[in-house]
Parts: sequence; C-alpha cells; structure tokens
Amino acid sequence: MQKSHSTDHTDYRNTLDRIFNDISHQPLQGHAADYIPELAKVNPSQFGISLCHSSGEVYNVGDAQTKFSIQSIVKVFSLALAYRLKGEALWQRLGVEPSGGAFNSLALLEFEQGIPRNPFINAGALVIADILVSHWVNPKYTLLAFVRQLANTPSIDFNLSVAASEAMHGHRNAALVQLMKSFGNIHNDPRDVLDMYFHICSIEMTCQELAQAFLVFAHGGQHPITGETMLSLSQTKRMNALMQTCGFYDESGDYSFRVGLPGKSGVGGGVAAVHPGHYSVAVWSPPLNAKGNSARGIAALEQLTTQTGVSIF
Ligand code: DON
Repeated sequence: MQKSHSTDHTDYRNTLDRIFNDISHQPLQGHAADYIPELAKVNPSQFGISLCHSSGEVYNVGDAQTKFSIQSIVKVFSLALAYRLKGEALWQRLGVEPSGGAFNSLALLEFEQGIPRNPFINAGALVIADILVSHWVNPKYTLLAFVRQLANTPSIDFNLSVAASEAMHGHRNAALVQLMKSFGNIHNDPRDVLDMYFHICSIEMTCQELAQAFLVFAHGGQHPITGETMLSLSQTKRMNALMQTCGFYDESGDYSFRVGLPGKSGVGGGVAAVHPGHYSVAVWSPPLNAKGNSARGIAALEQLTTQTGVSIF
C-alpha cells in the first residue's frame, strides 16, 4: 500500500468536522431525484462524508455509515471492469470527450453514429454494460463481486426495489439502447443490457465503502488492502482524466473549477473523488442541483480542497 505523502500534515479530522458543521447549518438547496420513484423516498437531510487516507486512516462524519443508492457512480466501477477486460480496444466503441450535455441526452448519438462521447454519460455506460453482458453469463453479479472486492466489503448488494422502479420508468435509457442498437453499437438483446444497467445503478453503499472502493484510483491502480494490481498505471491515469473531464456531465467544467479533483456523481446524491497519492473521499447528500449532481456533495469537496489548499492543480 502506498504510504502517506510525507508533507501531508493536514488535520483531516478537524477540517471535515468544520466543513460538515458549516454546510449542515446552511438551508438545503435543490431536490432529491424523483424520476426514479424509489429514490424520492429517501430523507433529504441525511449528510455524510468519509475520507480514506493513503496512510490507512479513515475519517467519517455525519451519515457516513448509511447505505444509499450509488447510481451513476457505478459507471466508474463498470468502466474499470471493462477496461481490464478489453484494454485500449474499448475506445473503438465509445469516446473520451466531454459531451456538454445532460447525463441522459439522446441528442449527439444520432449525429455521431451511435458512438457515445464518453463512458460516464448514460449512453456510454450502456455500451460498457453491453460489453460486460457479452463476456459473462451473470454480468451483474460479476460487477457486484468486483465492487465488493474493491471496497473490501462483502455485504454490498443491489436494491431490487430501486432497480425495478427504474425499469418501470427507464424510457430514455431504453431509447438510448435502441438507438445505439440501430447503429450496431449494442450487440446483445436491449432488455439484457437494460437489466444489467438498472441493477448495477441500484447498488447501495455507504460513504465509507465508496471511499474505500475509490482508493484504488488514488493508488495507481493497486488494491489498497491486498496490493493486487487492479488497473495499470496508464489505465488509472486515464480513468482519473475521464472523471475529471466527464464525471459531472455538463457541470464537469464548473466542478473542476471549484474542486480540482477527479470525481463522479450519482443521482442518489453521492459524489466520490480522489486526490492521487493522498486520499479518496465520498460525500452523500440527496438534494441535487439543476445539473443532477449533489449540491452539498460538491460544496463539501470545494471546501475540502480550498481549506487544505491542496488539489491536483
Ligand atoms: O440512468 C439513470 O437515469 C440512473 N440510473 C443514473 C443516473 C445518474 O446517476 C446521473 N448522475 N448524476
């Protein structure tokens, strides 16, 4: 396991407490996602932060041990699994450019012959799901096992009510798969691809489990506990670059500008980020801003890099 940066004397305990208290006293902005009805049932005032440092220290504050729906954050794990499998051949099926559009947009696909701009918009994550469906008999369980391994937590699981709720209302995702199928960029039955995607989005994790699972991206691709190489250095660099440029959809520029760390959001209100060589961090607060990203999640990370005076830039 990579050791703590020798010049990192930050008092993370006090910093996180200060950030948590400050943001907790501000009125809640935005609304929890309700286009997946099951997600609208979550208490919006819950708020947690977990930071896992390279030294092995874990700092939790607030609801850091409460499970929530990770939604699009899973796109980081599914990309990592497909990248291990396919290597650079992956990029024949999807691009690495920011889309400048909403996470569920159909607009560019028609002009760009069914090749999604990047793996973090829904279209790209559906192509990744298709790749995993082609390779494994039980792809959702393979992905679940991979997430459990990264987080070193066997109790991580799907929320079947959330998966069913999204399947009932997932018309845009169905449209994305059908459109890409018409261009030949979906190889399997659209129903199998959607079943995979809805299940993996429904995975529930705590902030601490998410931060633990993200440590691999702060450690050059090495598993933080076992030391196993999960991704090459180059793959890790590229995944972090994609998180930096595409992790927050059409808010990726503003997020980078404010936070300065590679990260990924989900409509469950989670945000996970890494400071390579230093730490991984996960924040959870359900109310979303207009771009569909957790308002408090981004605010907390902005305060973290501002108060510590350290980001990747
Ligand atoms: O496809 C959907 O709509 C959801 N399962 C995931 C979307 C999501 O998390 C977007 N991120 N902020």
